[in-house]
Amino acid sequence: MDFELKSLSVAQAATLAVDALVVLVPESDPKAEGALGQLISQAIAHKDLDNGPGQLVSAYRPAGIKAARLVLVRAGDGNASAVRKAVSGAIASLKHPSVQKLALVTSLLTLSEDAVRAAMVALADASYSYTTTKPSAKPRHLGKVVVGVADAGAVRAGFEAGRATVAGVEFAKEWANRPGNHATPTHLADAAKQLAKKPGIRVDVLGPKQVAALGMGAFLAVAQGSEEPLRFIVMHYQGAAKSQAPVVLVGKGITFDTGGISLKPGAEMDEMKFDMGGAASVLGTFAALAELKPAINVVGLIPSCENMPDGRAIKPGDVVRSMSGQTIEILNTDAEGRLILCDALTYAARFKPRSVVDIATLTGACVIALGAVRSGLFSPRDELAQALQQAGEKSGDLCWRMPLDDEYAEGLKSNFADMGNVAGRAGGSITAAKFLQKFTADLPWAHLDIAGTAWKSGAAKGATGRPVPLLVQYLLDEAQRDAGAPASAKPRARVKAKA
Ligand code: BES
Ligand code: MN
Ligand code: ZN
Repeated sequence: MDFELKSLSVAQAATLAVDALVVLVPESDPKAEGALGQLISQAIAHKDLDNGPGQLVSAYRPAGIKAARLVLVRAGDGNASAVRKAVSGAIASLKHPSVQKLALVTSLLTLSEDAVRAAMVALADASYSYTTTKPSAKPRHLGKVVVGVADAGAVRAGFEAGRATVAGVEFAKEWANRPGNHATPTHLADAAKQLAKKPGIRVDVLGPKQVAALGMGAFLAVAQGSEEPLRFIVMHYQGAAKSQAPVVLVGKGITFDTGGISLKPGAEMDEMKFDMGGAASVLGTFAALAELKPAINVVGLIPSCENMPDGRAIKPGDVVRSMSGQTIEILNTDAEGRLILCDALTYAARFKPRSVVDIATLTGACVIALGAVRSGLFSPRDELAQALQQAGEKSGDLCWRMPLDDEYAEGLKSNFADMGNVAGRAGGSITAAKFLQKFTADLPWAHLDIAGTAWKSGAAKGATGRPVPLLVQYLLDEAQRDAGAPASAKPRARVKAKA
Protein backbone atom coordinates (compact mmCIF):
# COMPACT_ATOMS: atom_id res chain seq x y z
CA MET A 1 0.00 0.00 0.00
CA ASP A 2 1.23 3.41 -0.95
CA PHE A 3 0.72 6.19 1.61
CA GLU A 4 0.95 9.90 0.92
CA LEU A 5 0.79 12.70 3.50
CA LYS A 6 -0.96 15.96 2.52
CA SER A 7 -2.02 19.16 4.20
CA LEU A 8 -5.69 19.23 3.34
CA SER A 9 -8.69 21.33 4.35
CA VAL A 10 -12.15 19.77 4.38
CA ALA A 11 -13.11 21.96 1.41
CA GLN A 12 -10.09 20.64 -0.53
CA ALA A 13 -10.92 17.06 0.43
CA ALA A 14 -14.28 17.41 -1.33
CA THR A 15 -12.47 17.99 -4.63
CA LEU A 16 -10.10 15.01 -4.40
CA ALA A 17 -10.23 12.46 -7.21
CA VAL A 18 -10.40 9.35 -5.04
CA ASP A 19 -12.76 6.37 -4.88
CA ALA A 20 -13.61 6.93 -1.25
CA LEU A 21 -13.33 9.68 1.30
CA VAL A 22 -13.19 8.83 5.00
CA VAL A 23 -13.64 11.87 7.20
CA LEU A 24 -12.83 11.67 10.90
CA VAL A 25 -15.40 13.77 12.78
CA PRO A 26 -14.49 15.07 16.24
CA GLU A 27 -16.85 14.58 19.17
CA SER A 28 -17.05 18.38 19.63
CA ASP A 29 -19.39 18.97 16.70
CA PRO A 30 -17.18 20.88 14.25
CA LYS A 31 -17.97 23.76 11.93
CA ALA A 32 -16.54 22.97 8.51
CA GLU A 33 -16.69 24.77 5.18
CA GLY A 34 -18.26 23.79 1.87
CA ALA A 35 -20.42 20.92 0.71
CA LEU A 36 -18.64 18.39 2.89
CA GLY A 37 -18.87 20.65 5.92
CA GLN A 38 -22.60 21.00 5.34
CA LEU A 39 -23.08 17.25 5.09
CA ILE A 40 -21.31 16.78 8.39
CA SER A 41 -23.44 19.48 10.08
CA GLN A 42 -26.62 17.95 8.69
CA ALA A 43 -25.71 14.41 9.70
CA ILE A 44 -25.12 15.66 13.22
CA ALA A 45 -28.20 17.92 13.31
CA HIS A 46 -30.47 15.11 12.11
CA LYS A 47 -28.91 12.70 14.60
CA ASP A 48 -27.73 10.40 11.82
CA LEU A 49 -24.19 10.43 13.20
CA ASP A 50 -24.06 9.29 16.80
CA ASN A 51 -21.28 10.49 19.02
CA GLY A 52 -18.80 7.81 20.05
CA PRO A 53 -15.60 6.59 18.39
CA GLY A 54 -16.43 4.33 15.44
CA GLN A 55 -20.01 5.54 14.91
CA LEU A 56 -20.41 6.21 11.20
CA VAL A 57 -22.69 7.15 8.35
CA SER A 58 -22.00 6.40 4.65
CA ALA A 59 -23.14 8.07 1.44
CA TYR A 60 -22.89 7.35 -2.28
CA ARG A 61 -22.14 10.14 -4.74
CA PRO A 62 -23.26 12.95 -2.44
CA ALA A 63 -23.69 16.31 -4.16
CA GLY A 64 -20.63 18.54 -4.25
CA ILE A 65 -18.18 15.75 -3.50
CA LYS A 66 -15.94 14.26 -6.12
CA ALA A 67 -15.35 10.89 -4.43
CA ALA A 68 -17.96 8.19 -5.14
CA ARG A 69 -18.13 7.00 -1.58
CA LEU A 70 -18.12 9.00 1.59
CA VAL A 71 -17.86 7.76 5.15
CA LEU A 72 -18.20 10.14 8.09
CA VAL A 73 -16.89 8.50 11.23
CA ARG A 74 -16.61 9.76 14.78
CA ALA A 75 -13.13 9.79 16.25
CA GLY A 76 -13.66 11.15 19.76
CA ASP A 77 -11.08 13.77 20.67
CA GLY A 78 -8.59 12.30 18.19
CA ASN A 79 -6.59 10.23 20.66
CA ALA A 80 -4.81 7.23 19.13
CA SER A 81 -7.22 4.64 20.47
CA ALA A 82 -10.34 6.50 19.26
CA VAL A 83 -8.73 7.04 15.85
CA ARG A 84 -7.89 3.35 15.62
CA LYS A 85 -11.51 2.45 16.31
CA ALA A 86 -12.82 4.99 13.80
CA VAL A 87 -10.50 3.90 10.99
CA SER A 88 -11.08 0.16 11.55
CA GLY A 89 -14.85 0.62 11.35
CA ALA A 90 -14.74 2.87 8.31
CA ILE A 91 -12.33 0.68 6.32
CA ALA A 92 -14.31 -2.48 7.07
CA SER A 93 -17.23 -0.85 5.21
CA LEU A 94 -15.06 -0.02 2.18
CA LYS A 95 -13.65 -3.42 1.24
CA HIS A 96 -14.80 -3.35 -2.34
CA PRO A 97 -12.92 -3.77 -5.64
CA SER A 98 -13.98 -0.27 -6.69
CA VAL A 99 -12.20 1.32 -3.74
CA GLN A 100 -8.59 1.48 -4.87
CA LYS A 101 -7.69 5.02 -3.98
CA LEU A 102 -8.81 6.46 -0.69
CA ALA A 103 -8.32 9.63 1.30
CA LEU A 104 -8.41 9.64 5.07
CA VAL A 105 -9.28 13.17 6.14
CA THR A 106 -8.24 13.99 9.69
CA SER A 107 -8.04 17.77 9.33
CA LEU A 108 -10.93 18.50 11.72
CA LEU A 109 -8.82 17.10 14.54
CA THR A 110 -5.32 17.96 15.66
CA LEU A 111 -3.81 14.51 15.57
CA SER A 112 -0.59 13.73 17.40
CA GLU A 113 2.15 11.88 15.53
CA ASP A 114 1.18 8.76 17.45
CA ALA A 115 -2.45 9.11 16.34
CA VAL A 116 -1.40 9.51 12.70
CA ARG A 117 0.63 6.33 12.94
CA ALA A 118 -2.26 4.58 14.72
CA ALA A 119 -4.58 5.57 11.86
CA MET A 120 -2.22 4.13 9.27
CA VAL A 121 -1.61 0.88 11.14
CA ALA A 122 -5.36 0.42 11.72
CA LEU A 123 -6.10 1.17 8.08
CA ALA A 124 -3.56 -1.40 6.89
CA ASP A 125 -4.84 -3.95 9.39
CA ALA A 126 -8.49 -3.50 8.36
CA SER A 127 -7.72 -3.85 4.65
CA TYR A 128 -5.21 -6.71 4.98
CA SER A 129 -5.78 -9.90 3.03
CA TYR A 130 -3.69 -13.08 3.06
CA THR A 131 -3.64 -14.71 -0.36
CA THR A 132 -0.38 -16.69 -0.64
CA THR A 133 -1.95 -20.11 -0.10
CA LYS A 134 -5.52 -18.98 -0.84
CA PRO A 135 -5.50 -17.49 -4.31
CA SER A 136 -9.30 -17.37 -4.31
CA ALA A 137 -9.31 -14.92 -1.38
CA LYS A 138 -10.42 -11.35 -2.08
CA PRO A 139 -7.17 -9.49 -2.44
CA ARG A 140 -6.62 -6.03 -1.00
CA HIS A 141 -7.89 -3.64 -3.64
CA LEU A 142 -6.77 -0.56 -1.82
CA GLY A 143 -3.53 0.61 -3.38
CA LYS A 144 -3.18 4.29 -2.63
CA VAL A 145 -4.01 6.16 0.57
CA VAL A 146 -3.83 9.91 1.01
CA VAL A 147 -3.55 10.86 4.67
CA GLY A 148 -5.00 14.36 4.87
CA VAL A 149 -4.05 16.39 7.94
CA ALA A 150 -4.34 20.01 9.01
CA ASP A 151 -0.55 20.51 8.96
CA ALA A 152 1.60 17.87 7.27
CA GLY A 153 4.85 19.35 8.58
CA ALA A 154 3.76 18.85 12.18
CA VAL A 155 3.26 15.09 11.86
CA ARG A 156 5.77 14.08 9.19
CA ALA A 157 7.84 11.90 11.56
CA GLY A 158 4.74 10.09 12.80
CA PHE A 159 3.70 9.49 9.21
CA GLU A 160 7.12 8.05 8.30
CA ALA A 161 7.05 5.83 11.40
CA GLY A 162 3.56 4.74 10.38
CA ARG A 163 4.63 3.82 6.88
CA ALA A 164 7.60 1.77 8.14
CA THR A 165 5.55 0.12 10.88
CA VAL A 166 2.94 -0.97 8.35
CA ALA A 167 5.66 -2.43 6.11
CA GLY A 168 7.08 -4.31 9.10
CA VAL A 169 3.73 -5.55 10.38
CA GLU A 170 2.73 -6.80 6.94
CA PHE A 171 6.03 -8.62 6.43
CA ALA A 172 5.59 -10.29 9.82
CA LYS A 173 1.95 -11.21 9.14
CA GLU A 174 2.75 -12.73 5.78
CA TRP A 175 5.40 -15.06 7.21
CA ALA A 176 3.51 -15.94 10.36
CA ASN A 177 0.37 -16.74 8.37
CA ARG A 178 2.12 -19.10 5.97
CA PRO A 179 1.55 -22.71 6.99
CA GLY A 180 4.41 -24.88 8.22
CA ASN A 181 5.06 -26.42 4.81
CA HIS A 182 5.34 -22.98 3.23
CA ALA A 183 7.41 -21.46 6.05
CA THR A 184 10.16 -23.92 6.89
CA PRO A 185 13.39 -22.78 8.58
CA THR A 186 14.94 -22.64 5.10
CA HIS A 187 12.09 -20.46 3.84
CA LEU A 188 12.54 -18.09 6.79
CA ALA A 189 16.23 -17.84 6.00
CA ASP A 190 15.32 -16.99 2.41
CA ALA A 191 12.96 -14.27 3.67
CA ALA A 192 15.83 -12.83 5.70
CA LYS A 193 18.10 -12.95 2.64
CA GLN A 194 15.45 -11.09 0.69
CA LEU A 195 15.64 -8.31 3.31
CA ALA A 196 19.42 -8.30 2.97
CA LYS A 197 18.99 -6.83 -0.52
CA LYS A 198 17.92 -3.59 1.14
CA PRO A 199 20.59 -1.05 2.04
CA GLY A 200 22.02 -1.31 5.56
CA ILE A 201 21.02 -4.96 6.07
CA ARG A 202 23.33 -7.97 6.02
CA VAL A 203 22.34 -11.57 6.72
CA ASP A 204 24.30 -14.74 7.52
CA VAL A 205 22.59 -18.12 7.67
CA LEU A 206 24.11 -20.99 9.68
CA GLY A 207 23.15 -24.64 9.16
CA PRO A 208 23.33 -27.72 11.42
CA LYS A 209 27.09 -28.20 11.08
CA GLN A 210 27.94 -24.65 12.09
CA VAL A 211 25.43 -24.71 14.94
CA ALA A 212 26.99 -27.98 16.16
CA ALA A 213 30.45 -26.41 15.94
CA LEU A 214 29.21 -23.57 18.16
CA GLY A 215 28.15 -26.15 20.76
CA MET A 216 24.46 -25.25 20.68
CA GLY A 217 23.37 -28.60 22.11
CA ALA A 218 19.95 -27.39 23.26
CA PHE A 219 18.97 -25.94 19.88
CA LEU A 220 20.30 -29.05 18.09
CA ALA A 221 18.32 -31.30 20.44
CA VAL A 222 14.99 -29.74 19.43
CA ALA A 223 15.86 -29.89 15.72
CA GLN A 224 16.99 -33.53 15.75
CA GLY A 225 13.46 -34.93 15.50
CA SER A 226 12.76 -33.21 12.19
CA GLU A 227 13.61 -33.91 8.56
CA GLU A 228 13.81 -30.17 7.96
CA PRO A 229 17.31 -28.86 8.60
CA LEU A 230 17.57 -26.13 11.25
CA ARG A 231 18.64 -22.61 10.38
CA PHE A 232 20.27 -20.03 12.60
CA ILE A 233 19.64 -16.66 10.99
CA VAL A 234 21.92 -13.78 11.94
CA MET A 235 20.83 -10.35 10.68
CA HIS A 236 22.66 -7.04 10.96
CA TYR A 237 21.21 -3.59 10.47
CA GLN A 238 23.87 -0.91 10.62
CA GLY A 239 22.56 2.64 10.98
CA ALA A 240 25.25 4.02 13.30
CA ALA A 241 29.03 3.85 13.65
CA LYS A 242 30.34 0.27 13.74
CA SER A 243 31.76 0.91 17.20
CA GLN A 244 28.30 1.52 18.65
CA ALA A 245 26.85 -1.37 20.70
CA PRO A 246 23.81 -2.92 19.01
CA VAL A 247 20.39 -3.85 20.30
CA VAL A 248 20.02 -7.61 19.80
CA LEU A 249 16.57 -8.98 18.98
CA VAL A 250 16.13 -12.75 19.36
CA GLY A 251 13.03 -14.32 17.79
CA LYS A 252 11.71 -17.82 18.48
CA GLY A 253 11.44 -19.51 15.10
CA ILE A 254 9.67 -22.84 15.68
CA THR A 255 8.01 -23.25 12.29
CA PHE A 256 5.75 -25.96 13.69
CA ASP A 257 5.37 -27.14 17.28
CA THR A 258 3.82 -30.60 17.61
CA GLY A 259 5.15 -30.81 21.16
CA GLY A 260 7.57 -33.55 20.10
CA ILE A 261 7.38 -36.81 22.06
CA SER A 262 5.39 -34.86 24.69
CA LEU A 263 2.87 -34.58 21.87
CA LYS A 264 0.22 -31.86 21.97
CA PRO A 265 -3.48 -32.76 21.74
CA GLY A 266 -4.99 -32.46 18.26
CA ALA A 267 -7.42 -29.63 18.84
CA GLU A 268 -6.12 -26.37 17.38
CA MET A 269 -2.70 -27.86 16.81
CA ASP A 270 -2.69 -26.13 13.41
CA GLU A 271 -2.19 -22.86 15.29
CA MET A 272 1.29 -24.02 16.20
CA LYS A 273 2.35 -22.87 12.73
CA PHE A 274 2.34 -19.44 14.41
CA ASP A 275 5.07 -20.60 16.79
CA MET A 276 7.55 -18.60 14.70
CA GLY A 277 5.71 -15.36 15.50
CA GLY A 278 8.75 -14.06 17.39
CA ALA A 279 10.96 -14.75 14.37
CA ALA A 280 8.41 -13.08 12.09
CA SER A 281 8.43 -9.98 14.30
CA VAL A 282 12.22 -9.75 14.05
CA LEU A 283 12.02 -10.05 10.25
CA GLY A 284 9.26 -7.44 10.19
CA THR A 285 11.24 -5.08 12.40
CA PHE A 286 14.17 -5.33 9.99
CA ALA A 287 11.82 -4.56 7.10
CA ALA A 288 10.76 -1.42 9.01
CA LEU A 289 14.39 -0.48 9.77
CA ALA A 290 15.18 -0.63 6.05
CA GLU A 291 12.45 1.99 5.47
CA LEU A 292 13.20 4.29 8.39
CA LYS A 293 17.00 4.00 8.54
CA PRO A 294 17.34 5.14 12.17
CA ALA A 295 20.83 5.87 13.55
CA ILE A 296 21.23 2.68 15.57
CA ASN A 297 22.76 -0.77 15.15
CA VAL A 298 20.55 -3.82 15.48
CA VAL A 299 21.36 -7.53 15.36
CA GLY A 300 18.56 -10.03 14.75
CA LEU A 301 19.01 -13.66 15.82
CA ILE A 302 16.53 -16.31 14.73
CA PRO A 303 17.01 -19.91 15.83
CA SER A 304 14.59 -21.82 13.62
CA CYS A 305 13.54 -25.47 13.42
CA GLU A 306 10.52 -27.75 13.75
CA ASN A 307 9.56 -29.57 16.94
CA MET A 308 8.58 -33.07 15.79
CA PRO A 309 8.10 -36.55 17.31
CA ASP A 310 10.36 -39.05 15.58
CA GLY A 311 12.66 -42.02 16.13
CA ARG A 312 15.51 -39.58 16.51
CA ALA A 313 13.61 -37.02 18.56
CA ILE A 314 14.62 -36.06 22.10
CA LYS A 315 12.80 -37.95 24.87
CA PRO A 316 11.65 -36.78 28.29
CA GLY A 317 14.59 -37.21 30.64
CA ASP A 318 17.27 -36.67 27.99
CA VAL A 319 20.06 -34.39 29.14
CA VAL A 320 21.72 -31.97 26.72
CA ARG A 321 24.57 -29.50 27.03
CA SER A 322 23.80 -25.92 26.07
CA MET A 323 26.28 -23.55 24.44
CA SER A 324 26.74 -21.90 27.85
CA GLY A 325 28.07 -25.18 29.24
CA GLN A 326 25.06 -25.64 31.53
CA THR A 327 23.30 -28.98 31.17
CA ILE A 328 19.53 -29.29 30.81
CA GLU A 329 17.24 -32.21 31.62
CA ILE A 330 14.47 -32.10 29.02
CA LEU A 331 11.51 -33.13 31.14
CA ASN A 332 8.96 -32.00 28.58
CA THR A 333 9.82 -31.85 24.89
CA ASP A 334 6.97 -29.35 24.42
CA ALA A 335 8.96 -26.72 26.32
CA GLU A 336 11.19 -26.40 23.25
CA GLY A 337 11.12 -22.65 22.72
CA ARG A 338 13.34 -21.99 25.71
CA LEU A 339 15.77 -24.65 24.47
CA ILE A 340 16.41 -22.94 21.15
CA LEU A 341 16.36 -19.46 22.72
CA CYS A 342 18.86 -20.25 25.47
CA ASP A 343 21.61 -20.97 22.95
CA ALA A 344 20.74 -17.89 20.90
CA LEU A 345 20.92 -15.78 24.11
CA THR A 346 24.38 -17.17 24.85
CA TYR A 347 25.38 -16.32 21.29
CA ALA A 348 24.01 -12.76 21.72
CA ALA A 349 26.72 -11.91 24.28
CA ARG A 350 29.39 -11.81 21.56
CA PHE A 351 27.91 -8.58 20.22
CA LYS A 352 28.47 -6.82 23.57
CA PRO A 353 24.93 -5.50 23.18
CA ARG A 354 23.39 -2.40 24.76
CA SER A 355 20.31 -4.57 25.27
CA VAL A 356 18.98 -8.00 24.29
CA VAL A 357 15.25 -8.50 23.76
CA ASP A 358 13.89 -11.94 22.98
CA ILE A 359 10.43 -12.31 21.49
CA ALA A 360 8.67 -15.66 21.75
CA THR A 361 5.32 -17.42 21.60
CA LEU A 362 6.64 -19.15 24.69
CA THR A 363 3.87 -20.29 27.02
CA GLY A 364 0.17 -21.07 27.10
CA ALA A 365 0.38 -19.81 30.68
CA CYS A 366 0.99 -16.28 29.40
CA VAL A 367 -2.25 -16.48 27.44
CA ILE A 368 -4.03 -17.41 30.67
CA ALA A 369 -2.35 -14.56 32.56
CA LEU A 370 -2.75 -11.68 30.09
CA GLY A 371 -5.05 -12.85 27.31
CA ALA A 372 -4.76 -11.29 23.87
CA VAL A 373 -4.50 -7.65 24.97
CA ARG A 374 -0.98 -7.32 26.38
CA SER A 375 2.20 -9.28 25.76
CA GLY A 376 4.12 -10.47 28.82
CA LEU A 377 7.21 -8.39 29.58
CA PHE A 378 9.96 -9.78 31.78
CA SER A 379 13.19 -8.03 32.68
CA PRO A 380 15.38 -7.68 35.74
CA ARG A 381 16.40 -4.22 34.47
CA ASP A 382 13.97 -1.46 35.44
CA GLU A 383 15.20 0.99 32.83
CA LEU A 384 14.90 -1.49 29.96
CA ALA A 385 11.51 -2.70 31.17
CA GLN A 386 10.26 0.88 31.34
CA ALA A 387 11.57 1.67 27.87
CA LEU A 388 9.75 -1.33 26.39
CA GLN A 389 6.56 -0.72 28.33
CA GLN A 390 6.52 2.91 27.17
CA ALA A 391 7.25 1.94 23.57
CA GLY A 392 4.22 -0.33 23.82
CA GLU A 393 1.97 2.43 25.16
CA LYS A 394 3.14 4.93 22.56
CA SER A 395 2.62 2.53 19.64
CA GLY A 396 -0.58 0.99 21.00
CA ASP A 397 1.13 -2.43 21.01
CA LEU A 398 0.78 -3.07 24.71
CA CYS A 399 2.74 -5.20 27.15
CA TRP A 400 2.70 -5.70 30.92
CA ARG A 401 5.60 -6.33 33.24
CA MET A 402 5.65 -9.61 35.11
CA PRO A 403 7.80 -10.54 38.13
CA LEU A 404 11.11 -12.44 38.11
CA ASP A 405 11.69 -13.25 41.80
CA ASP A 406 14.33 -15.94 42.23
CA GLU A 407 11.86 -18.12 44.14
CA TYR A 408 10.16 -18.78 40.80
CA ALA A 409 13.28 -20.67 39.68
CA GLU A 410 13.01 -23.28 42.48
CA GLY A 411 10.99 -25.68 40.38
CA LEU A 412 13.63 -25.79 37.65
CA LYS A 413 16.02 -27.81 39.84
CA SER A 414 17.02 -31.24 38.54
CA ASN A 415 18.83 -34.24 40.05
CA PHE A 416 20.36 -35.11 36.71
CA ALA A 417 21.40 -31.79 35.14
CA ASP A 418 22.07 -28.16 36.06
CA MET A 419 18.38 -27.51 35.49
CA GLY A 420 15.19 -28.99 34.12
CA ASN A 421 13.43 -27.31 31.23
CA VAL A 422 10.09 -27.07 33.05
CA ALA A 423 8.79 -26.33 36.53
CA GLY A 424 5.22 -26.99 37.71
CA ARG A 425 2.07 -25.59 36.15
CA ALA A 426 1.93 -22.62 38.52
CA GLY A 427 3.34 -19.37 37.16
CA GLY A 428 4.32 -21.10 33.92
CA SER A 429 5.17 -17.95 31.97
CA ILE A 430 7.41 -16.74 34.79
CA THR A 431 9.27 -20.03 35.30
CA ALA A 432 9.90 -20.07 31.54
CA ALA A 433 11.39 -16.58 31.81
CA LYS A 434 13.50 -17.69 34.80
CA PHE A 435 14.87 -20.51 32.65
CA LEU A 436 15.90 -18.02 29.95
CA GLN A 437 17.41 -15.70 32.54
CA LYS A 438 19.98 -18.39 33.41
CA PHE A 439 21.49 -17.81 29.97
CA THR A 440 21.66 -14.03 30.02
CA ALA A 441 24.64 -13.67 32.38
CA ASP A 442 24.84 -9.95 33.12
CA LEU A 443 23.33 -8.74 29.87
CA PRO A 444 20.64 -6.05 29.94
CA TRP A 445 17.99 -8.52 28.89
CA ALA A 446 14.23 -8.48 28.44
CA HIS A 447 11.82 -11.17 27.29
CA LEU A 448 8.48 -10.64 25.55
CA ASP A 449 6.07 -13.59 25.73
CA ILE A 450 3.74 -13.02 22.77
CA ALA A 451 1.83 -16.32 22.98
CA GLY A 452 -1.46 -14.44 23.43
CA THR A 453 -0.84 -11.51 21.11
CA ALA A 454 0.96 -12.83 18.00
CA TRP A 455 -2.15 -14.28 16.40
CA LYS A 456 -5.93 -14.42 16.64
CA SER A 457 -7.91 -17.67 16.85
CA GLY A 458 -11.45 -18.43 15.68
CA ALA A 459 -13.13 -16.88 12.65
CA ALA A 460 -10.55 -14.10 12.48
CA LYS A 461 -7.68 -16.61 12.68
CA GLY A 462 -4.50 -14.94 11.55
CA ALA A 463 -1.25 -13.27 12.54
CA THR A 464 -1.37 -9.79 14.09
CA GLY A 465 2.15 -8.64 13.27
CA ARG A 466 2.69 -7.87 16.95
CA PRO A 467 4.99 -6.81 18.53
CA VAL A 468 6.53 -5.09 15.48
CA PRO A 469 5.02 -1.67 16.41
CA LEU A 470 6.47 -1.92 19.92
CA LEU A 471 9.92 -2.99 18.70
CA VAL A 472 10.09 -0.27 16.04
CA GLN A 473 9.14 2.36 18.62
CA TYR A 474 11.72 1.04 21.08
CA LEU A 475 14.47 1.22 18.45
CA LEU A 476 13.44 4.75 17.41
CA ASP A 477 13.50 5.82 21.06
CA GLU A 478 16.97 4.33 21.50
CA ALA A 479 18.24 6.06 18.35
CA GLN A 480 16.83 9.35 19.58
CA ARG A 481 18.37 8.88 23.00
CA ASP A 482 21.76 8.59 21.31
CA ALA A 483 21.14 11.68 19.26
CA GLY A 484 20.78 13.58 22.54
CA ALA A 485 17.42 15.06 21.76
CA PRO A 486 16.15 17.91 23.95
CA ALA A 487 14.77 16.69 27.27
CA SER A 488 11.19 17.53 26.32
CA ALA A 489 11.29 15.17 23.33
CA LYS A 490 12.79 12.36 25.32
CA PRO A 491 10.56 9.40 26.03
CA ARG A 492 12.17 8.78 29.40
CA ALA A 493 14.92 9.86 31.74
CA ARG A 494 18.51 9.32 30.70
CA VAL A 495 20.82 7.03 32.55
CA LYS A 496 22.09 8.74 35.66
CA ALA A 497 25.19 10.79 34.94
CA LYS A 498 28.39 9.31 36.29
CA ALA A 499 29.62 10.96 39.48
N1 BES B 1 4.49 -22.80 21.60
C1 BES B 1 4.07 -23.25 22.87
C2 BES B 1 3.37 -22.16 23.67
C3 BES B 1 1.95 -21.84 23.28
C4 BES B 1 0.92 -22.70 23.58
C5 BES B 1 1.66 -20.65 22.67
C6 BES B 1 -0.38 -22.37 23.25
C7 BES B 1 0.36 -20.31 22.36
C8 BES B 1 -0.66 -21.18 22.65
C9 BES B 1 5.25 -23.73 23.69
O1 BES B 1 6.27 -24.33 22.98
C10 BES B 1 4.73 -24.75 24.64
O2 BES B 1 4.30 -25.77 24.19
N2 BES B 1 4.78 -24.46 25.93
C11 BES B 1 4.27 -25.32 26.92
C12 BES B 1 5.23 -25.31 28.08
C13 BES B 1 4.93 -26.37 29.10
C14 BES B 1 5.24 -27.74 28.53
C15 BES B 1 5.77 -26.10 30.33
C16 BES B 1 2.89 -24.84 27.34
O3 BES B 1 2.69 -23.62 27.41
O4 BES B 1 2.02 -25.66 27.53
MN1 MN C 1 5.95 -26.41 22.70
ZN1 ZN D 1 6.48 -23.75 21.04
